[in-house]
Amino acid sequence: MLSHTVVLSLLVVLALAASMCAFAAPVQSGRERLLMDFGWKFKFGRPLDVAGGAFVKAGASTEYGVQAVDSDWRTVDLPHDWVVEVPFVANGDLSHGCRPVGKAFPETSIGWYARRFDVPKEDLGRRLSIEFDGVFRDCRVWLNGYYLGRSESGYSPFAFDITDYANYGGSNRLVVRVDATQFEGWFYEGAGIYRHVWLTKTAPVHVPQWGTFVTSEVKGGSAKVTAHVKVANDGREPADITVTSTILDADGKVLGRADSPQGKLDASKETEIVQTFDVPKPHLWSPETPYLYSVVSTVKSGQAEVDRYTTPFGIRIIGFDPDKGFILNGKPYVLKGTCNHQDHAGVGSALPDRLQYYRIQRLKEMGCNAYRTSHNPPTPELLEACDRLGMLVMDENRLLGTTPEYIGQFEDLILRDRNHPSVFIWSIGNEEWAVQDGEGGARIAQTMCDIAHRLDPTRLTTYAGNNGGRYEGVNKVVDVRGWNYGVGPDMDDYHKAHPQQFQIGTEQASTLGTRGEYANDPGRCFMSAYDDNQPDWGRTAENWWKFFAQRPYLSGGFVWTGFDYRGEPTPYSWPAVSSQFGIMDTCGFAKDNFYYYQAWWSDRTVLHILPHWNWPGKEGKPIDVRCFTNCDEVELFLNGKSLGKKAVPLDSHARWSVDYAPGELSAVGYKAGKVAANAKIETTGPPAAVKLICDRTEINADGEDISIVNVEIVDSKGRVVPTADNDITFDLAGDGRIIGVGNGSPASHEPDKFLDLPEFRSWERKAFNGLAQIIVQSTKKAGQISLRAQSESLQPGIAVVKSRECQPRSSVP
Ligand code: GAL
Repeated sequence: MLSHTVVLSLLVVLALAASMCAFAAPVQSGRERLLMDFGWKFKFGRPLDVAGGAFVKAGASTEYGVQAVDSDWRTVDLPHDWVVEVPFVANGDLSHGCRPVGKAFPETSIGWYARRFDVPKEDLGRRLSIEFDGVFRDCRVWLNGYYLGRSESGYSPFAFDITDYANYGGSNRLVVRVDATQFEGWFYEGAGIYRHVWLTKTAPVHVPQWGTFVTSEVKGGSAKVTAHVKVANDGREPADITVTSTILDADGKVLGRADSPQGKLDASKETEIVQTFDVPKPHLWSPETPYLYSVVSTVKSGQAEVDRYTTPFGIRIIGFDPDKGFILNGKPYVLKGTCNHQDHAGVGSALPDRLQYYRIQRLKEMGCNAYRTSHNPPTPELLEACDRLGMLVMDENRLLGTTPEYIGQFEDLILRDRNHPSVFIWSIGNEEWAVQDGEGGARIAQTMCDIAHRLDPTRLTTYAGNNGGRYEGVNKVVDVRGWNYGVGPDMDDYHKAHPQQFQIGTEQASTLGTRGEYANDPGRCFMSAYDDNQPDWGRTAENWWKFFAQRPYLSGGFVWTGFDYRGEPTPYSWPAVSSQFGIMDTCGFAKDNFYYYQAWWSDRTVLHILPHWNWPGKEGKPIDVRCFTNCDEVELFLNGKSLGKKAVPLDSHARWSVDYAPGELSAVGYKAGKVAANAKIETTGPPAAVKLICDRTEINADGEDISIVNVEIVDSKGRVVPTADNDITFDLAGDGRIIGVGNGSPASHEPDKFLDLPEFRSWERKAFNGLAQIIVQSTKKAGQISLRAQSESLQPGIAVVKSRECQPRSSVP
């Protein structure tokens, strides 16, 4: 029996032969999306290296990287961020985290990448394109000596159709020059091909990139789902096309089907087919119930199936009310959000997909239900994690602007992301202080909002403005007025004066604190973690949240930030290299404020005591003790002796002054007079062992999956020593590799990466306040990965991760 693909190929071949196409060649039907992450070559370039001949002769570019033999270039896999590989420098840009990148560092600001790949002869006649999810930044691309073009944005996706340039039946060389000399933001941005690259192959008649838009309308217990399916004919002959779409539930069960009548699609034309489905009793998507449906659209050209395109989506009702705030599925829904940049300890901005999920899971553990992608389009996998795990997203554009380049970036953001149920609003920009209050800003914003409404009538727009109570410029134009900071009477006055405008806390808090530190220490660049510190524009967690919690019209808000990020080391400068605004540090380890938010945001019973209880030398001296809890009352005990019961006001905390004595500080929490929670902290002994805790002990042998290994320095009783800073050495054996280490200290200058260079011995890191993190990645070979962590005179820690056989994603060989 002939296989399905062979039958289709034959049909298409016959169709083409009949048309006597000049380039008649076997055409494979169907779509292939191949990951192009593995086996790149990388080398730093020179500042003047593009003065070659990109624009002189087609297919004969003479640029350095295009001509160079790459056999001595380093081999790297994507995602790749080279900034995290180079050492910290005192004269590096502070807001970018003091690394040698930017115009003062030409030798490490331009990177060349090259990748060879074969294109089979049989692909002749298909459409081929290379898709980049994001490159930081100013990227120029060549294939086989042809200059394909340039994309300047460090955050927007871009693609090149390479159908005419590919070498069919032979080897191809893709060359990418990345120039990070110029920054876009004022925070760590990394550099390089830090998101995925794909080679997509389709038939000439196919669904173009981001070519579907699925919307839903819920009425009377049933949903009407509408699928807009674009079909492009990039062939040279007209095609008779039909589109059949089926709607599937989360288990893959078919719920409905729609067939379009056959229609003629001329060569070089595009059409849009609209199909509708009824879904009785739909499962509504929410952060608590992240239920996903999908529409599978099958395109036929004549009788041959030429494309099959899957669009995951969710059914939910979103809206705003000027008094009740954000409404989800018919009910007011308080946004308990965080703003975040995209970097993580050890890997910079090049996150394996699993790390996106880990970070979203950590935020959810805290009770967070919303994420702002400040200040740029996120990687697609972040949105996938939010769709699947349940996290609402404020999807943010990089810059206000309406020239073709900026409009292009904004439109691509919407077209790419509008099927994600997690995305509930478009943010057109952030704190554009030069224009936000003027008429010019209003005009730009109006054009952008009109574009958003045209491309996506289902969502509203906002703007993250730091302009207090002003109803001018951008604020006047956006659908939902965003508040960056400005907590206080301005907000109530604004609401009174503009009672019909929806509002949202786009960015709040900016509370400062270092994990495990309980005094401000400018010498070491640490801030106390007591929820006492904020810059003059910010607020403590308790202060902003209390205010917002009492004002439903504000819809809740987004904390600056969920995780610490590199750069912007407010309020210190070098040797500080990371921000300290995070509720968690750069590894995702909880600071104490994590429990403040967990107490008031989640539905768990929380009782957390701070600080730690290791204060040698402070015997008899008062220690400021607080409990973050959602119990009504808490009784505190030192070594069994009651220090009194205290009431815990709503959205607040309980506090005692306790004369230090080593031992045990414990607390009992009461709800409605009944014991609801117990907690204790203890004075530990000295460090005795290294303990490794893997987030998963089984991962996929696909060369992408990771185990996030948290490292604890523990005493002889297994208790984390909260002040330990031991040096740890890591050795890995088996079918895996280490891709990064971190410890969450905002002033550590230890390497995140140890490259496989001649001087390499083993991976190392100090613990910071008892903890560190190491990220282990699988190879494509199944087996066992053993990680051993040693520290002088401590018992070593061992972790074993099974890397299990799996079907890796289809990738370019
Ligand atoms: C805001 C800004 C953020 C960050 C923050 C620090 O004004 O939007 O990007 O700089 O301040 O508090």
